[in-house]
Amino acid sequence: MQISFKPARLQDAPALAKLDKDSFGAEAWPLDSFQSALQNPRQEAELAVADGKTLGYVLMNYQREAPGTACVDSLAVSPDARGQKLGEQLLLRGLETAAHKGFQEVQLEVEKGNLPAEKLYEKYGFVPTAVLSGYYHGKDGTQMKLKDLQGAGSSLLAQRRQELAEKLGGIPGHTFTTQG
Ligand SMILES: CC(C)(COP(=O)(O)OP(=O)(O)OC[C@H]1O[C@@H](n2cnc3c(N)ncnc32)[C@H](O)[C@@H]1OP(=O)(O)O)[C@@H](O)C(=O)NCCC(=O)NCCS
Repeated sequence: MQISFKPARLQDAPALAKLDKDSFGAEAWPLDSFQSALQNPRQEAELAVADGKTLGYVLMNYQREAPGTACVDSLAVSPDARGQKLGEQLLLRGLETAAHKGFQEVQLEVEKGNLPAEKLYEKYGFVPTAVLSGYYHGKDGTQMKLKDLQGAGSSLLAQRRQELAEKLGGIPGHTFTTQG
């Protein structure tokens, strides 16, 4: 399967909404949330695509928190494409873009007990910074941060990119394109 990565555009909103529905069920974002995110110049999504099918996305937000803090608004991989390092590659690309833009840290929220996501974020240096009581339809969440993105965080990204490349036999470089 040949995977490619590309910035999402407005016409990709239905594919993102479907992926979200498949991943988060009743808690998924509706189509209009993706449509507005994809028209917001301070939010950027990147897609993993194979054979014309969208298999995953990462949605970054560059204005939700204080200046200097970027956010991972959402990340999802199609259930039948998981476990193939797509989530990791998407996260890596989002974090590299945030680093490239000069952000100092990255914040995200994850539902407590979402082990695949928690492990992925820990692998990329995120640490828990707050408990979010009842944040997910009454279920608790965890706020996590990746700090020092221009220092130790950046070195960790480079190390993870190297490990991924070795495991996958090479991964596409980041082009730092933005949606238009
Ligand atoms: C979280 C998610 C994006 C991971 O995507 P994926 O492509 O399946 O994950 P990858 O194959 O890239 O795995 C990368 C790392 O994630 C972690 N991970 C992924 N699946 C895991 C699992 N089932 N159990 C434990 N850790 C897991 C591991 O750290 C793994 O690295 P390793 O293989 O070196 O141990 C995917 O499970 C998903 O879409 N889940 C539903 C949506 C969601 O919860 N999104 C996050 C919202 S905060």
